[in-house]
Amino acid sequence: MQTVAKEGEQDYLANIGEMGRTHCLNKPFSDTYCGMNLTSIGTIMSLLPPAPARILDLGCGGGWTSIFLARHGYEVVGQDIAADMIELARENAGLYRVGDHLQFICGDFESLDFQDHFDAAIFFDSLHHAEDEALAIRSAYRALKPGGILITHEPGEGHAIHPQSIQAMELYGVTERDMPPQLIIARGKEAGFVDARILPMPEELFSIFYKRRTYPKHLLSKRRFNISRRVLRLLFKPDPAKGAIVIQTK
Ligand SMILES: C[S@@+](CC[C@H](N)C(=O)[O-])C[C@H]1O[C@@H](n2cnc3c(N)ncnc32)[C@H](O)[C@@H]1O
Repeated sequence: MQTVAKEGEQDYLANIGEMGRTHCLNKPFSDTYCGMNLTSIGTIMSLLPPAPARILDLGCGGGWTSIFLARHGYEVVGQDIAADMIELARENAGLYRVGDHLQFICGDFESLDFQDHFDAAIFFDSLHHAEDEALAIRSAYRALKPGGILITHEPGEGHAIHPQSIQAMELYGVTERDMPPQLIIARGKEAGFVDARILPMPEELFSIFYKRRTYPKHLLSKRRFNISRRVLRLLFKPDPAKGAIVIQTK
């Protein structure tokens, strides 16, 4: 169903100007968080069945994730609601030799026609732009073959009130919602997914393992204790409210 919020998504590229367009075309290299984006797509690739599985990239924007996957040999369909984003994604794909491995289609991920076709579907930072996440997850479920997987990479609670999200909503009329694992998993269960795993976002791992430490290194320091507690929690009791990668099986 066409709504004002969906018009905001469709008009976004036209409204962000030439610099914004160049940024979209050059993602992830143009992004401040390029390293994290690369780690995220690498993590997602490592969760996928081997190429040449069929992958549906939902809300693919300028297409960088679809292109990465196609360059590895996956059969990819990138999908987005914005016709000019799809044009941009096609232009982007033209820069690489991906040939027939990659197609882009324009449409609403809340009402897709695919049935039992894909080995995996991905929402990479796009499900939180949905007006109705239940419809979007049901669409993805239908599109998957039995045993297929849905991977979401989405921000958790607090995203909708982040100053950048508020600015984007005010300036461009786009949707920016919280999309925590607990909501994604609840909607997944309603759709028919049989199991779910919550995996940490790369930035969470970065802040634990890779970030430079400025605190005392002795074994019993309070900071060390807190970090150990975070690691154990990630392993045994991941926070269902925090941004995460969620993987569910049909
Ligand atoms: C934050 S962007 C992420 C784009 C891309 N996945 C990336 O990482 O660069 C969210 C994308 O979701 C798309 N989108 C929003 N609502 C949609 C819908 N109902 N159906 C399909 N795409 C949608 C937007 O047009 C936008 O390209």
